[in-house]
Amino acid sequence: MSKRKNNKEKQIISTQRVVDHGEVFTSTREVNAMLDLVKDETERIDSRFLEPACGTGNFLAEVLTRKLNIVESRYKKNQLEYERYALVAVCSLYGIDILEDSIKECRNRLLVIFQERYKLLYGKSSKKECIKSIDFVLKKNIIRGNALDLKTIGEHPQPIVFSEWSPVNGSMIKRRDFEFHELLSAAQSNELPLFSDLGEDVFIPEPIKEYPLTHFLRLADAE
Ligand SMILES: C[S@@+](CC[C@H](N)C(=O)[O-])C[C@H]1O[C@@H](n2cnc3c(N)ncnc32)[C@H](O)[C@@H]1O
Repeated sequence: MSKRKNNKEKQIISTQRVVDHGEVFTSTREVNAMLDLVKDETERIDSRFLEPACGTGNFLAEVLTRKLNIVESRYKKNQLEYERYALVAVCSLYGIDILEDSIKECRNRLLVIFQERYKLLYGKSSKKECIKSIDFVLKKNIIRGNALDLKTIGEHPQPIVFSEWSPVNGSMIKRRDFEFHELLSAAQSNELPLFSDLGEDVFIPEPIKEYPLTHFLRLADAE
C-alpha cells in the first residue's frame, strides 16, 4: 500500500463521519508546521495544551513526543526524575472530543507513546505504578464532551471538568478540579492562559474540588 494511501486513510475514517462530525484528521506535516509556530512552548515540559476537538490526538501526540524528547535528554540518567517530568508532561495535555471511540484511541495512543519510550529506557525496572498514574491522568484530561456547550455527553450532561496538576516538593502532586467554562471565562476576560494566577486584578476561577497532596506514583489511588 502506498504511503499516500496510508496517509489518506489516516485522515478520513468514513464519509459518514466527515458528514456527521467533520472528522478529517490533520496530517503530520501540517501538525508539525503549526506546532513549529509555538516551538518553544511545545518543548516546555509543563506548558499546557488543549486540543478542543482532538479526534485521536494528532496534535497532542506530537506535543507529547516533543516534550518527552526534552525530558529524556535532561533526565534519562535518573529514572525517578525522568518519571516525575514525564508525568508533568502528560499532565499538561488536555483534549475534548464528541466521539467515544476517538477519545479512547487518543488516550491509548498517548499512553503507548509514553510506555514504549519508558520501557526502552528502563526495561525491567520500569514501574507499573508510573504507567498507572500516567493512564489515570490521561483518563481525566482527555474527555468525551461537546466543545460547543462545554458539557459531557450522555443522558445527564454535566459541565466538563478539568484537573490542574501541580508538582509540589518534588514527588508530590496537588490536584484541583475546575469547571471548564469557568476557566474559559477567566482566560477570555483576562486574556491570560488557562489556569494562570498572574496579577491581582484578574478573575481567578475557584476550584470545585481540591485533593490532598498525593505522591505522583499513587495518583490513581487517591480518588
Ligand atoms: C477536523 S477533525 C480534527 C481532529 C484533530 N484535532 C486533528 O486535527 O486531527 C474534527 C473533530 O472534531 C470532533 N467534533 C465534532 N463536533 C464536536 C463537538 N461539538 N465537540 C467536540 N468535538 C467535536 C470530531 O469528532 C472530530 O474528531
